[in-house]
Amino acid sequence: MALLPILRYPDPRLNKVAQPVQAVDARIKALIADMLETMYEASGIGLAATQIDVHERLVVIDTSEERNAPLVLINPEITWLSEERVKGDEGCLSVPGIYDGVERATAVKVTALDGEGQSRTLEAEGLLAICIQHELDHLKGKVFVEYLSPLKQGRIKTKMVKSLRDER
Ligand code: NI
Repeated sequence: MALLPILRYPDPRLNKVAQPVQAVDARIKALIADMLETMYEASGIGLAATQIDVHERLVVIDTSEERNAPLVLINPEITWLSEERVKGDEGCLSVPGIYDGVERATAVKVTALDGEGQSRTLEAEGLLAICIQHELDHLKGKVFVEYLSPLKQGRIKTKMVKSLRDER
């Protein structure tokens, strides 16, 4: 297993649209293991393949307190979104240190393949529902800050570019 470098906003590669995973083979299973390790190491609750510069429809999630309930979604599709919506603060491993409000559906239904290539349907609510919407946005090339006002996005870009420069 290996830790993978996470792309940082506003890297334009975060705006690429992911393509379907063609087969849940050894390469994808190794990628899943590396993505889980990377997500846990970074104390994140979700990581999309887009964020590690792999543009295939694959996300890993773990919203459990104990950090022992990994969820793998391959070629996920949201089939239902609740009409009820809630606005809550979100963060993202690609936008470290930034938290801001995004409105999301409070519940979702999603179909996907699991890490073994089996088809699954999942109903989620609360934090997991929000995390699924956030991660699936990454696969469409969308970062959560892109829901914020242009003014806020500009400020965040400036801050991110500066912090990357300071790290070098
Ligand atoms: Ni994210």
